[in-house]
Amino acid sequence: MTRMSTLRQTTHETRNGILFEPFPLPCGVVLRNRIVKSAMSDSLGDGTGHPTQAQIGLYQRWAEGGAALAIIGEVQGSGKFAEKPGNLVLDDSADLDRFKALARAGAENGAGPWLQLGHAGALSYPPISAPKGPSALDLPGLICGELTQEEIEALPLEFARTARLARNAGFGGVELHAAHGFLISQFLSPLFNRRTDRYGGAIDGRMRLLLDVVGAVRAAVGPDFPVALKLNSSDQLEGGFCETDALAVLAVLDGTGLDLIDVSGGTYFPGARSASDSGGRGPYFVDFARRARNVTTKPLMTTGGFKTLAQAEEAVASGAVDLVGMARALALEPSLPNLWFARQLAKPAFPRFADPPEGGVTAWYTMRLTEIGEDRDLQATGDLAQAIAAYDTRDRERTEIWLRHFSSTAQGEPGRKTAG
Ligand SMILES: Cc1cc2nc3c(=O)[nH]c(=O)nc-3n(C[C@H](O)[C@H](O)[C@H](O)COP(=O)(O)O)c2cc1C
Repeated sequence: MTRMSTLRQTTHETRNGILFEPFPLPCGVVLRNRIVKSAMSDSLGDGTGHPTQAQIGLYQRWAEGGAALAIIGEVQGSGKFAEKPGNLVLDDSADLDRFKALARAGAENGAGPWLQLGHAGALSYPPISAPKGPSALDLPGLICGELTQEEIEALPLEFARTARLARNAGFGGVELHAAHGFLISQFLSPLFNRRTDRYGGAIDGRMRLLLDVVGAVRAAVGPDFPVALKLNSSDQLEGGFCETDALAVLAVLDGTGLDLIDVSGGTYFPGARSASDSGGRGPYFVDFARRARNVTTKPLMTTGGFKTLAQAEEAVASGAVDLVGMARALALEPSLPNLWFARQLAKPAFPRFADPPEGGVTAWYTMRLTEIGEDRDLQATGDLAQAIAAYDTRDRERTEIWLRHFSSTAQGEPGRKTAG
């Protein structure tokens, strides 16, 4: 697939509208437009939790492409509960100079990357972790232990430490990952969280960890540094975190120091539907965002299913959201914001895969990110089977490096594919 063949272009006669107006966040930082490259776990860490040159190249391309900011997915606060062996790990033992080089990528375009702070919890990658979540589970494809109360109480400070290091390294902001079935999202969901202590039970208890993390992170970075949150509108699983829960959480978050809430949905629970594997018509969460406006005054963004300029403009112009988040579209065409600004009605051609295996689509997009980062995206992108093989091989190689570096204990079955 060539770079041009990912696009269908015609001239768009309408004026450049609201999508290219700046947006001030409550902390005082002004975003240059309304288009955000949503968090993607790019698997471009070097296996020791540090950035690679390809990752720096990828974030430069997104900054040059015109997005207001680009969020690096699944940055871990320790090597213990990572989502993938290609994740970044930003803790006190990290080489901050290497993170500074990544933070500079795109900074000259005013789009210095933000870090999404993650902890995979029950969905930690088994070959490099002993997965633990709010409650012990033994389900097909998902076995995990239970975090002790002491371990839970330590988490807000761990997130806060990584946020402070992100600021010191020169990143533009942080986003807390409370979506897609990873740790904070597990606490919010009654399917994962069966605790009977103060971190479980009704939604007030299930959101306690999230509130503690938000408070600790804000205290660590000060009032003028952007702190965002990615939150599910629902797990899209029967008996899971539902829209009523999400609206209750949003109402409480209104009283916190957050700058932005990115509404998403779905989980990477084995066999479940995730937003990034969806072939459905988008955008997916705009109607929910419109309802969220009734319970929160926080700036809102939504990610999921945006493909066209008209969809993005409509979401902002209608007042449903302030910002539009895009992941796959910007993996297919990193310069989409500039093309839209130049009135080219570019619509990335989303590849269609017949009957892909679970995680296969994510693997394909992840390898696409590698090609962009290595400046190889002018050449043919491999087919699905090739992408999955390359992705699995790299994970196996990085698993060995990770285990040597972090001296973790390997447990469970290797090979479950997830994305943040
Ligand atoms: C390769 C890949 C990796 C992803 N990694 C993350 C991640 O680390 N954190 C996150 O919040 N979402 C992650 N996502 C989900 C996207 O941010 C987004 O919510 C989802 O793809 C739907 O948006 P889209 O339709 O614009 O792609 C990932 C998606 C893809 C395709």
